Amino acid sequence: MANTVLDYEAEAAHYDRTRGGVPRARAAADAVLSLVPPGARTLLDLACGTGLVTERLVRPGLGVYGADAAHAMLRAAAERVPGRTVRADARRLPLPDAAVDAVSAVWLLHLVPFAPEIVAEAARVLRPGGVLIATVDKDAAHDVGSDIDAILRPYRSARRPSDGAGAVTAHAAAHGLDPAPGTHFAGHGQGATPRDTVRKLRAGYYASWFHGEQAETEALAAALTALPDQDRPRPDPRYRLAAFVRRG
Ligand SMILES: C[S@@+](CC[C@H](N)C(=O)[O-])C[C@H]1O[C@@H](n2cnc3c(N)ncnc32)[C@H](O)[C@@H]1O
Repeated sequence: MANTVLDYEAEAAHYDRTRGGVPRARAAADAVLSLVPPGARTLLDLACGTGLVTERLVRPGLGVYGADAAHAMLRAAAERVPGRTVRADARRLPLPDAAVDAVSAVWLLHLVPFAPEIVAEAARVLRPGGVLIATVDKDAAHDVGSDIDAILRPYRSARRPSDGAGAVTAHAAAHGLDPAPGTHFAGHGQGATPRDTVRKLRAGYYASWFHGEQAETEALAAALTALPDQDRPRPDPRYRLAAFVRRG
């Protein structure tokens, strides 16, 4: 798939096991549902991935659909919400204008350089009064003030993430979406360990922070490897969900 750092065709096999599993998915789904208007009848879960969150959004009276660009992720989702998934790029949804009451995008906007296009497309498919619910500031959520963060913070804070709350709010306003109260959810089981942070660093997870230069990667890896308690998870992150209402 073009334009994302990770290859989600390959990630699918171990995604559920490595991203907080059911506890994280349940927390995310509950938080999304708390922002869905009571009368909503249709919810499109953009970048539904393996459907771990999507299946927990299903409620009586609420038709829940999932869209994702990666075949392998979508195959898993299709087993969880049968007949309700579609392979689609979030910038070009196979839906008419004003078709749904809510759109969710959990952990999508931080991945792509074209967040404004996704926000515009979500606004297009939302009915007036409908709600876009999206994670924002995802990287910042990972800074829990730990010793790992003290090492990563200068790199993390030097970049302007594609899911920055201010930028997403501006894109939303430009497409007829007004800010509404949001919420947070816990990344259960997602507290970083030094050893796993080094693994991710070498696997290129943070490449965009410093252009992946080898010397810098190795200097960071050395600093992280020197930390105590290499396998002790630091506190779980708390992710921010922003909400925007489609103007009438
Ligand atoms: C971090 S996963 C999040 C999955 C799910 N929302 C969750 O919380 O478990 C990101 C997902 O975004 C999908 N994705 C990335 N770029 C996309 C795009 N342009 N259109 C649709 N899906 C995309 C990937 O295939 C992947 O499944």
